Amino acid sequence: MTKPMSTSKTELVSYVRKKKITFTLLGLFLIIGILLDLALPWFMMNITNAAVGQETERFMLFFWVGVMILIANVVFSYFDTYLKVYIASYVRNDLRSRTFNHFLKLPLNYFDKNHSGKLGSRLTNDVNLIGDLMGRTSMTLIKSPLIAVVAFVTLLFLNWQLALICGLIGPLTLFVGKVFGAHIRKVTNALQQRMETIVSFVQDTFTGIPVIRTYSLEEKMDREFKDSSDHIHELEMKNGKLQSFMQASSSFISILTFLVAFGIGSYFVIEERMEIGGLVAFIQLLNYIVWPFTGLAHVWGQFQESLAASDRIFESLGEQTALDHFKLQNKVKDFKEIEFVDVSFTYDETKVINHFNFKLEKGTNAAIVGANGSGKSTLLKLILNLYDYDGIIKIDGRNTKDMSFEELLSYFALVPQESFLFPGTIAGNIRLGKEHASMDEVISAAKVSNAMRFIQDLPSTFDYQVGERGNKLSGGQKQRIAIARAILKDSPVVLLDEPTSSLDRESEKVLVKTISDLMENKTTVVITHDLDIIKEADVIIVLQDGEIIETGTHRELIQNKSEYYHLLNSDINANVAI
Ligand SMILES: Nc1ncnc2c1ncn2[C@@H]1O[C@H](COP(=O)(O)OP(=O)(O)OP(=O)(O)O)[C@@H](O)[C@H]1O
Ligand SMILES: [Mg+2]
Repeated sequence: MTKPMSTSKTELVSYVRKKKITFTLLGLFLIIGILLDLALPWFMMNITNAAVGQETERFMLFFWVGVMILIANVVFSYFDTYLKVYIASYVRNDLRSRTFNHFLKLPLNYFDKNHSGKLGSRLTNDVNLIGDLMGRTSMTLIKSPLIAVVAFVTLLFLNWQLALICGLIGPLTLFVGKVFGAHIRKVTNALQQRMETIVSFVQDTFTGIPVIRTYSLEEKMDREFKDSSDHIHELEMKNGKLQSFMQASSSFISILTFLVAFGIGSYFVIEERMEIGGLVAFIQLLNYIVWPFTGLAHVWGQFQESLAASDRIFESLGEQTALDHFKLQNKVKDFKEIEFVDVSFTYDETKVINHFNFKLEKGTNAAIVGANGSGKSTLLKLILNLYDYDGIIKIDGRNTKDMSFEELLSYFALVPQESFLFPGTIAGNIRLGKEHASMDEVISAAKVSNAMRFIQDLPSTFDYQVGERGNKLSGGQKQRIAIARAILKDSPVVLLDEPTSSLDRESEKVLVKTISDLMENKTTVVITHDLDIIKEADVIIVLQDGEIIETGTHRELIQNKSEYYHLLNSDINANVAI
């Protein structure tokens, strides 16, 4: 679900409402800024006229006025800049946290569709642009036209004929800015998208560096990166050309304006229709008109870029979340049965789970077997409501979709197929199962999962830093940490997705014993090819293309010589066991 574009503006305005005092101060500073800008030509006019008229007293007076203008400008600049930086940083901080918090609650299929590099760009590049918009850019956009109008009115008073002549040339620049601005915006949007792609590409490359090394893909990756980088270069040059054209046209018009003003102004001075001081003030005031016309085009471009960024961010924030909040308390729930009623699920187009019906009673140990891609892992994700599916999964007759995530997740602990560790310590990673677990609890979970054996041998044992995604541990070690995490959570149902797949035979044996113990005390659903585990299961579910093709105990299924029997026969381990 996406929100309309106007949400973006409403959200930005809400920041103004939230920071009323700061924005009022900024408004006040805007007026002071304009007054100070006007004081300068006034000072220049008077001091020049005093010098030309050799009026020492007036000269001295304006000398001190100049000093005061200088001091006022310094003080004002400090506070004005500080306030703008403050408001930009406040908006960035708030938006960054809000967006990150929102991302955490989005349904899993959002992450299937959007690359993490792109999401990272929302939190960095886009957030920064919006900060700029709320601070510097918006103030410049308000101040420039205001001061241009005030300056123009003042010019009219100084010399209306000259003002009108110069005033005619000004709007030409605005036209130039408008024409180029639209093109520049298009190119910068394309650039932004390219940058997101390249960041995602770099992320994937470095994550996959072992594969790149072992398959000698360096050249291929380098080529792809270079193509991408070349494309960015092309876009930047396109942008550069537009900017140069715009700059040249603006320079032409602004210099022409000054030449005309100086030329006609000097003629007026000769004709004694204007004082020299008046001409000096006139030229300075002209700056305030010409600059907005030339410089504003650039700021306008930034403004458009920031608006596009805010549309992107608020579109993400408009995505429907799967969670309301994520405070998970470890309350252990008791239950009688979990029932799947006609559960079906499709990822994109292909049906992965097809009319799945099953009842899992408390204390039952179910094993799911099936070929790769038959939908086993997906089924566990559906139990946890990580994806939206058709049909109902009930716990004691209650639809789990009606439960809060907090309640639903308190029933389950999951050991996923691919163990994921966060950078940090071993203890920290195990503790993800139970936030405030004591060290004794962590150690005991590590012992039960048979992780203790390798942790003991590590240089700093439980304080060992596991590296990005746990890279500094072996696959089997990571798996044991993931199991320790699930044990620590101590939920009534444990879901294990191929828990022994990365383990050596010895660790596997120990773990099978651990899992058997778990099976005695808890309700378990285990996806496995390990015959020792399968044999202990109360019920084996044989899955094929998301459908149950048979259920029963090992003995029953073997006796029937059905699909399960054939599945095992194709497995070397199974041949030995049968
Ligand atoms: N995030 C996803 N987006 C789209 N399709 C997916 C996604 N995850 C899995 N699939 C598809 O769904 C099907 C079932 O995948 P699943 O991971 O459930 O299989 P599995 O039985 O666990 O296989 P394996 O034994 O290899 O672990 C596969 O065909 C897979 O391509
Ligand atoms: Mg799987």
